[in-house]
Amino acid sequence: MDFKTIKVQLGESMAWVNLDRPEVRNALNDAMISELTEAFDWLNSRDDIRVVILKGNGKCFCAGADLDYMKAMAHYSYPQNLEDAQKLSKLFQTIHFCDKAVIVDVHGACIGGANGIVAAADIVIAEKETKFAFTEVRLGLTPATISPFVVAKIGNTAAKELMLTGRRFTADEAKTFGLVNVVVDEAEMIDTERQYIDYFLQASPDAIAECKNLIRMVTGTDDRYNPVFMQTSVAIANQRISKAGQEGMKAFFEKRKPEWNK
Ligand code: COA
Repeated sequence: MDFKTIKVQLGESMAWVNLDRPEVRNALNDAMISELTEAFDWLNSRDDIRVVILKGNGKCFCAGADLDYMKAMAHYSYPQNLEDAQKLSKLFQTIHFCDKAVIVDVHGACIGGANGIVAAADIVIAEKETKFAFTEVRLGLTPATISPFVVAKIGNTAAKELMLTGRRFTADEAKTFGLVNVVVDEAEMIDTERQYIDYFLQASPDAIAECKNLIRMVTGTDDRYNPVFMQTSVAIANQRISKAGQEGMKAFFEKRKPEWNK
């Protein structure tokens, strides 16, 4: 498959997917959201693939949603804006409902929407120096489409702490909050990834798919038609064209504080 914003490499029983827009810290724009969703759908349909490993090329795993592209939504019609917001939600749903074991390796920074990917995956290995944050409120936005996955993973208390403050937190804290599984030095990343791959290859692929179903059912995250996906898409579609959202995103690119933080 020919992708422009991601790189997909197939190995025996495994696939590596790399986010590949390092110049903007792998920020999720329209093309990357579509290509990632397509890649996960495609890999999920292949019987020969049992484990998918997702990483980011360059300095960071992912800087979250592409703010330039989100800001441009003010010039789109409302139906286009909403349709687009649903695409972001669909990406997290596609990873969450994937039958394959999904490992994510994070390094550098894992901000905003990147945590939706992390929350939707099965195993998250974080390089020790990775900076995490849910910066949305500081940008006049909310972590809307990622919230069903993140809150299910880290719970109400941690979600309030992290989403309401927008503060940075370390990989060790992310582990304490239950957002990541393991924190490693850079040199240990590949061995740790390999260890999880070995565990998954010792398990029956059908049992892995069923076990993922079971965990979704027991945690109440198994409804593919949950109206919350639409509601959170509506929320972000409204926020990114709002006065606060436009000001927050403009301030980011002008490298200044937004008007509410003078
Ligand atoms: N959307 C669009 N562009 C982004 C971006 C994003 N989310 N994050 C970074 N970029 C761009 C920057 O504008 C910059 O572009 P420039 O070179 O034209 O100035 C480039 O990527 C590099 O960013 P920079 O901040 O200089 O990199 P860094 O390595 O010092 O820091 C981050 C990396 C991820 C910590 C930092 O870029 C950041 O905090 N980004 C914002 C993330 C965010 O708040 N996302 C939430 C979206 S809801």
